[in-house]
Amino acid sequence: MGRGVTLWFTGLSGSGKSTLAQHITPILKAHGCKVEMLDGDEVRQNLSRGLGFSKADRDTNIKRIGWVAKVLTRNGVVTVAAAISPYRGVRQWCREQIGDFVEIYVDCPLEVCEARDTKGLYARARAGEIKQFTGIDDPYEPPEDPEVVVHTAEESVEQSVQKILARLRELGYL
Ligand code: ADX
Repeated sequence: MGRGVTLWFTGLSGSGKSTLAQHITPILKAHGCKVEMLDGDEVRQNLSRGLGFSKADRDTNIKRIGWVAKVLTRNGVVTVAAAISPYRGVRQWCREQIGDFVEIYVDCPLEVCEARDTKGLYARARAGEIKQFTGIDDPYEPPEDPEVVVHTAEESVEQSVQKILARLRELGYL
């Protein structure tokens, strides 16, 4: 059985978490890893259906993802989690629960995420139709000591993916 690890992507909506997670997954599989992806949007349709975006609900959502990630990781799965996870405290809780935890800060200026507006939600948040939108009227607490930082406004997807893979090699996970 390969060594399990959780790759925890955190960053603003539209920063590129899901894109990077989707690109790295087949590469990890080609290395012989078993891989499972836990994407925020998909989790909210299933495991976290009914939860909103208050701090309490976001923390509940993240703890659920963290719990599943823990179970998968201890069974040798490379678990790729991609959720905004804006609060430092609950990310730290996940790190402690999971142990083999690689935090990847998907750093991208708010202006760039907003200009991309892939889901049209920033426009709706600016119009006041969505409240408590991360980066607009809700906080995002950047990681203080992440294993990897990628800058998606400046790097290509390929460059960011290579950076992550290099770090995984350094840490002995690949
Ligand atoms: S988290 O804060 O609990 O980690 P999660 O990643 O699951 O968030 O879900 C974020 C996604 O939900 C966003 O990409 C966006 O599509 C959608 N969304 C809807 N309302 C909000 C909001 N108020 N803040 C952030 N994202 C929202």
